[in-house]
Amino acid sequence: MSGSVASGATTAFNPLDLRHTDDPYPRLAALRRERPVSTPLPGWHVVVRDADVRAVLADPAVWSSRRNNTSVPETPEADRELALSQLDPPAHTRLRRLLSPAFARTFVAELEPVVRERAEALADRLEQGTDLVAGFAAPLPRAVLAAFCGVDDADAADYDRWAGAFTDLLGHRAHPEWPAFERWARRTAVGPALNGVLADLDRTEAVTFLHFLIVAGVPNLRHALGNLVLRLLREEHWRADGLPEAIEESLRLDPPALWQMRTATRDTTVAGAPVRAGERVVAVVASANRDPARWGEDADVFRPDRPGLRAHLAFGKGPHACLGASLTRLQLRVATEVLIGRYPGLRLAPDFRFRRAGDFMSRGPAALPVHLE
Ligand code: HEM
Repeated sequence: MSGSVASGATTAFNPLDLRHTDDPYPRLAALRRERPVSTPLPGWHVVVRDADVRAVLADPAVWSSRRNNTSVPETPEADRELALSQLDPPAHTRLRRLLSPAFARTFVAELEPVVRERAEALADRLEQGTDLVAGFAAPLPRAVLAAFCGVDDADAADYDRWAGAFTDLLGHRAHPEWPAFERWARRTAVGPALNGVLADLDRTEAVTFLHFLIVAGVPNLRHALGNLVLRLLREEHWRADGLPEAIEESLRLDPPALWQMRTATRDTTVAGAPVRAGERVVAVVASANRDPARWGEDADVFRPDRPGLRAHLAFGKGPHACLGASLTRLQLRVATEVLIGRYPGLRLAPDFRFRRAGDFMSRGPAALPVHLE
């Protein structure tokens, strides 16, 4: 864990080591100062500075997402079983263009009344001493995804089970939970889901995309909402005014997706270090978001009046930048408006201690025990 900065500062950051993720920040700060590129495993290069992370994410010709998946043959058929985030141009460009209308701000804005209604229903059911993750932050993104997909909430409880079962984006089709998910996805794909965009996709592509939303979109939102509530309470910022700015600061300081991976398409360099074709680069967004070179010496401080707030990398950058950003911002704002309106004196339980939930790439509180007031 982070407490061992003094002894561990110069050792490489191994993104697959879960012990870093309760509080990775002191260690990442040390690496930014002392070791901007490190090699925790043969053929893996970890970059932690803002400029290096941005450069990697911006250039898919050199830093491929598709080649992260060496076990999958590079054929159009195999591509249909890869998530949008795992493709390179031109396959990525085509699919993203087809899907984008579902995520347009105007379409997403129409969901606000539904999000509010779902959030109010969940807030009504909260009980004293409740865990706000289990009672609110986890079920809300599921209910909103069901609404986004134009299906009723009846199956929403399954989404978390599926997300837990298919922990990565590959190899899931052999899992015993897959048939139930696939039945749901095939039903959903022929309905009014996502502004009708799935109708223009091949059936396998549509199922793959719904799978991605469940495995990545829903858990990320749960973590973002948990992180946001925690941040607002700790910063004594539990009020409705200035929420959009507070949300951006929370996403900057506590991004749910800690890092992104890419694979070099040719021999090149990263942060001045040589990289061979086929080697991995891990771009640690969580570190870039606190880089003083970009954000100033108070980069670790919650400052919702900070200029240029939205330039953080919580939603990635470049051609793969998160398609769900508008939907995420909407849900975070409405959810906290509802909670603050209903429970203006909400407090963390005095014995609260942060425990990380999420896989090795993501981070949010496992539980948030609160007193409702
Ligand atoms: C706080 C919540 C979320 C965070 C932090 C987040 C973060 C990210 C990040 C960092 C990427 C870039 C991946 C890469 O560069 O390889 C991404 C991609 C994506 N996100 Fe999100 N996401 C969130 C919620 C959502 C939601 C709710 C949806 C949809 C309902 C969604 C849909 C997508 C899609 C489709 C992509 C792939 C875009 C592409 O590859 O072109 N995300 N997200």
